[in-house]
Amino acid sequence: MLPLTDRYGRTAVDLRVSLTDRCNLRCTYCMPAEGLAWLPRTTLLTDDEVVRLIGVAVGRLGVRDVRFTGGEPLLRPGLVEIVAATAALEPRPRISLTTNGIGLTRVAPALKDAGLDRVNVSLDTLRPERFRELSLRDRLADTLDGLRAAADAGLTPVKINTVLMRDVNDDEAVALLEFALAHGYELRFIEQMPLDAQHGWRRDNMITAEEILAALRLKFTLTEDDVPRGAAPAETWLVDGGPARVGVIGSVTRPFCGDCDRTRLTADGQVRACLFATTETDLRGALRDGASDDELASLWAGAMARKLPGHGIDDPAFLQPPRPMSAIGG
Ligand code: GTP
Ligand code: 5AD
Ligand code: SF4
Repeated sequence: MLPLTDRYGRTAVDLRVSLTDRCNLRCTYCMPAEGLAWLPRTTLLTDDEVVRLIGVAVGRLGVRDVRFTGGEPLLRPGLVEIVAATAALEPRPRISLTTNGIGLTRVAPALKDAGLDRVNVSLDTLRPERFRELSLRDRLADTLDGLRAAADAGLTPVKINTVLMRDVNDDEAVALLEFALAHGYELRFIEQMPLDAQHGWRRDNMITAEEILAALRLKFTLTEDDVPRGAAPAETWLVDGGPARVGVIGSVTRPFCGDCDRTRLTADGQVRACLFATTETDLRGALRDGASDDELASLWAGAMARKLPGHGIDDPAFLQPPRPMSAIGG
């Protein structure tokens, strides 16, 4: 076993795999209305290639958790088969999915049968008109149905990811938490990060973890959680004494890079050591040139060894990575 350890003593055991850079929504904080220049088809890993690389990560590099992301991973035609092949690996990793929920009503049972353990669904508003303004598509009902379908299929705990934006949806923090509590979903609020395709992120516009907590405390009592956080991005609080929880992912104002345990694979077969990495390591080329599993593992380990200590957002010289969030996979 070759652990994915870096110069700062962190070991990556959590793999995030982006299966496509495409999406069926156009969230204004993520990509422009016209979409982006999608990755050319020939550069996308095939299902077999993705599964082979996940196998290397699990079998040779000590990865224990695999999360499928996008773009929107439900748009990947082979998703169910990829999940099934991942679940057949030894030792079997825990398998999760981050999605906008659209289409889950159709595939949630098949994904569960294939071995998916749980899902996180993105939901920024409960108001249909606002959903349409925010995502440029009239799909709130599909997302809400998807959440229900995930819970019904046993893909639990079902978590909700919400990005609050100033004067856009920051008045909905309490309503979203009430909704999550009523349905048994675990809500997490996310600080917006400078990863949008349009490079329009401004620190002043970001709703901070502190602001989110203050808004929630007007209505709820939040107390310290008893579950250790580990390397999880979300800090969690018990709501009104528990057992329900709410989380805040304060990537910008409360960075957790010192405990990071993540490695990322893009849909076109590049390893990224960090969300904010400005360099990538090409596994697709090596794989297509006939590299052995050992050679792929060693390339992957080399990429992770060079991981930077943190995201550097506060550094005056900070530059956004060339790849936007939608092509990294969050
Ligand atoms: P759980 O295992 O359910 O806690 O999932 P998660 O929160 O790690 O993953 P999810 O895909 O739901 O991501 C939620 C938010 O956290 C997204 O906005 C991600 O971009 C962000 N996030 C995930 N991993 C990282 C990370 O390594 N660094 C930072 N800064 N943010 C991350
Ligand atoms: N900063 C933080 N979170 C983001 N997401 C998309 N773009 C950003 C950003 N710039 C969220 C999505 C989804 C999750 C995977 O990442 O809303 O909930
Ligand atoms: Fe890890 Fe980079 Fe995220 Fe920090 S920003 S937690 S180092 S992936």
